Amino acid sequence: MCQSSVSSLLFSLLMISAFLHSECLQHCETGPDQVRAGYWFSQYDHYSPVSSINASLYTHLYYYSLSLDDATSSAAVTVPPRPGQLPILNTFSSTIKSSNPSLKTLLSIATEDRKNSASNAAFSAMAADPDLRASFISSALALARENAFDGLDLAWQFPSLPSDMTNLGTLLAECRARISKEAQNSSSVLLTVTVYFSNHLFEESTDDLDYPVDVISESVDWVNALCFGYHKNSNATTNNAALFDKASHFSTSYGITSWLDAGIPPCKLVMGVPAYGRSWFLKNKVKNEPGAPVVAAGPRQKMSNQTGTMAYSEIEELLRDPSSEFIYDNQTVISYFHSGGLWVSFDSPEVVEYKIKFARHNRLLGYFLWPISFDDLHHTISRQAFDVWLRNYRSSSYKDDDGLEQAESPLDAPQEDAPTPSAAPSGCTTRRCTNSINNSHLGLYLSLCFLFI
Ligand SMILES: *[C@@H]1O[C@H](CO)[C@@H](O)[C@H](O)[C@H]1NC(C)=O
Ligand SMILES: *[C@@H]1O[C@H](CO)[C@@H](O)[C@H](O)[C@H]1NC(C)=O
Ligand SMILES: *[C@@H]1O[C@H](CO)[C@@H](O)[C@H](O)[C@H]1NC(C)=O
Ligand SMILES: *[C@@H]1O[C@H](CO)[C@@H](O)[C@H](O)[C@H]1NC(C)=O
Ligand SMILES: *[C@@H]1O[C@H](CO)[C@@H](O)[C@H](O)[C@H]1NC(C)=O
Ligand SMILES: *[C@@H]1O[C@H](CO)[C@@H](O)[C@H](O)[C@H]1NC(C)=O
Repeated sequence: MCQSSVSSLLFSLLMISAFLHSECLQHCETGPDQVRAGYWFSQYDHYSPVSSINASLYTHLYYYSLSLDDATSSAAVTVPPRPGQLPILNTFSSTIKSSNPSLKTLLSIATEDRKNSASNAAFSAMAADPDLRASFISSALALARENAFDGLDLAWQFPSLPSDMTNLGTLLAECRARISKEAQNSSSVLLTVTVYFSNHLFEESTDDLDYPVDVISESVDWVNALCFGYHKNSNATTNNAALFDKASHFSTSYGITSWLDAGIPPCKLVMGVPAYGRSWFLKNKVKNEPGAPVVAAGPRQKMSNQTGTMAYSEIEELLRDPSSEFIYDNQTVISYFHSGGLWVSFDSPEVVEYKIKFARHNRLLGYFLWPISFDDLHHTISRQAFDVWLRNYRSSSYKDDDGLEQAESPLDAPQEDAPTPSAAPSGCTTRRCTNSINNSHLGLYLSLCFLFI
């Protein structure tokens, strides 16, 4: 009796498990098996022209960005008004692909990373209206196709109302439907979304801002999480993009874990790594630890042309000054330097190495660098990420280059005492695409079986 029950039980377990597994694979099998992306910022093209990109370091490059016209009149996508942008948009894909034909390009439609900006309002109005959504989707896809892009990216920074979140989901679903329909006649277009570092938005006027994870996961090829810029208006020195942070939610490990726990399969999640740093003037140059009081944002540098923001290439320059002291902390995985009264938090090659290993360890689809325009002439950051990823990359089975795949590895999870995201795992979309048959279910089945003996 039990023998047949056991075998039919095992058979059904296998079937269920196979079903869940195949559903898992279906989530990702149409997309690329890895993403090593870079965002190229068109606004910095006079410092970092398209011709200076080493296209062999990436699988995907983003043209960042275009923004919306005033959505109340029409939802047409307009190119940036700066003279000279249009020829760059027209030739971006062909220039890139002439040196790496297998590279894919994506056109990013973005809003400014600033609350209450006009571009955020325009995006919000467009996403709320069915006709404007349809018009936006048509014009954005047409613009991407006309300029030989392989995909479209929506980078709304950030939805700030619960209805914005719902509308973003609807927009992505409609975009996917249109792409699938058009794919009957022309080549399919990639669709990605660029999002906050965590699936829940912090520091907003309302506490119920969660991304619609299920519809996002069904609609896009992958999700790019902006894992940096954690402390915008800090009055003390702090980390721009710590991997681990015991004291707050603001860390890359927290954000990535939150997306995975919310149900984005790792094979659809891409982790952001900044190629820029945050700078401050110290109040007292002897007090130069993280958390030290500051008097102002750091100096305006040539490339970013903003106070408090520094390109990696400019940081590297300042580090050559013998008076600057560089610190890498392998516990939180941060780097900073101070020089006189200046204090700068940034991702050094050491940090990039650890983060890329973290991404591989969590079996993420890949990483992206933001922006590659801020890397140095030798592409130090892009090259570091590329080298570490490839050293750790195995398409079928994952094994770390130095054995860090052990469960007790510091790469595995936020450190003890670290805040952990609230989990809502379900079926196939739980972390790492494991299926939902777990030991307690198995125990239940087996004890049922013994009832029949
Ligand atoms: C681009 O990067 C690759 C990989 O590191 C390297 O082999 C190649 O020489 C680089 N090309 C240029 C033009 O720098
Ligand atoms: C595909 O092409 C056919 C024939 O040219 C046309 O009738 C049809 O409307 C097209 N479908 C789409 C989705 O564009
Ligand atoms: C910095 O700001 C926080 C709140 O944003 C405040 O609690 C703290 O006292 C401030 N610290 C200093 C040194 O001004
Ligand atoms: C830098 O910013 C200032 C003010 O924000 C602006 O007037 C100036 O034109 C900018 N410079 C460049 C090179 O973009
Ligand atoms: C981290 O840094 C400490 C102190 O510098 C060192 O003793 C330790 O070996 C480092 N750990 C790792 C994993 O690199
Ligand atoms: C296993 O399933 C039980 C019951 O559904 C659940 O409470 C438990 O958290 C699951 N364990 C894991 C590791 O998923």
